[in-house]
Amino acid sequence: MKTIQITQSGGVDQLQITETELPTPQANEVLVGVQAISVNPVDFKVRQHENLLSLIYGPQRPAILGWDIAGTVVAVGKAVTQFQVNDRVFGMVNFPGAGNAYAEYVVAPADQLAHVPESIDFNAAAATTLAALTALQALEGRINSGDRVLIHAGSGGVGHFAIQMAKAMGADVITTASAKNKDLVLALGADEHIDYRSQQFETVVSDVDFVLDMFNGEILLNSVKVTKTGGTAIPLPTPEFSDVALELAQAKKASVAQSMVQSNGQDMQRLGEMLASGTVKPHVSATFPFEDMDQAHLQLESGRTVGKVVVTVNKDSK
Ligand SMILES: NC(=O)c1ccc[n+]([C@@H]2O[C@H](COP(=O)([O-])OP(=O)(O)OC[C@H]3O[C@@H](n4cnc5c(N)ncnc54)[C@H](OP(=O)(O)O)[C@@H]3O)[C@@H](O)[C@H]2O)c1
Repeated sequence: MKTIQITQSGGVDQLQITETELPTPQANEVLVGVQAISVNPVDFKVRQHENLLSLIYGPQRPAILGWDIAGTVVAVGKAVTQFQVNDRVFGMVNFPGAGNAYAEYVVAPADQLAHVPESIDFNAAAATTLAALTALQALEGRINSGDRVLIHAGSGGVGHFAIQMAKAMGADVITTASAKNKDLVLALGADEHIDYRSQQFETVVSDVDFVLDMFNGEILLNSVKVTKTGGTAIPLPTPEFSDVALELAQAKKASVAQSMVQSNGQDMQRLGEMLASGTVKPHVSATFPFEDMDQAHLQLESGRTVGKVVVTVNKDSK
């Protein structure tokens, strides 16, 4: 089967298409014939930075990057009861760990996958994985109906799901994005759009219950400033954030909390239900063939991606 491997960190030229043996599922795993893969900022960050690559893959080289897949079950381990051969499945595999998802066939723990709803195609399913799980796991239990919620980068992968989910939870949603993405974020359900290029959000927003921050640094600091007493700000980019943000939050009895997305089949099932009911709709702005994974990475690296980028897999042999 074809995989895309890297032998060391670096530029997109490190992404090499390589023939490898078909993996065999263990008792609790399924083998998925992959139809579509989604790409996230973590993909290029791990490709670029040796410390991240080693943190996630250990000494194992070459490494197969990628976590988000949708496809068809082609084999099941003997302890797997919830999936059968030919089932359409999707999920985020082994995050944060070795995903091995840039491949025509991927072995995945059955308890990290869910069935793709009948009405949903593989590209949409693949898109509704890491970014959607991140939004779900960060928002759930932290937002109440009627809350004022600020979601940064509402036009991006995580943000566009977060807007839809926060609205479904009954929140009043304010979001930042550039002017060109105003119509999109309003159509997704945002009540208010702030063009971050012409307006500083901290001058027009105050007293929010919850902030989902994609940037850390100055944006996190200003986010804490506009959070009300008892509110919460979640910075997504790294597990570390400045003491200044923490101290500021403590001084106003707000909190800054980490949220690291985790593979979870039950949450995937919830995403399946949201897709089937139309509560969330992924916005896939670009698709690339498997051979053009480098282009998908460069698109993500631009920092201007709207919604999700999907890579399609055309298998002609095992
Ligand atoms: N902790 C976790 O578990 C976790 C999980 C997922 C993602 N993350 C991290 O969260 C961050 C966001 O991920 P993502 O997938 O949503 O990224 P993304 O899809 O690449 O985000 C791109 C979007 O960001 C917008 N943007 C850029 N600069 C902006 C600014 N200053 N203010 C507002 N919007 C801005 C762009 O909108 P315009 O084109 O309109 O400028 C674009 O639509 C990344 O750092 C990622 O690594 C963390």
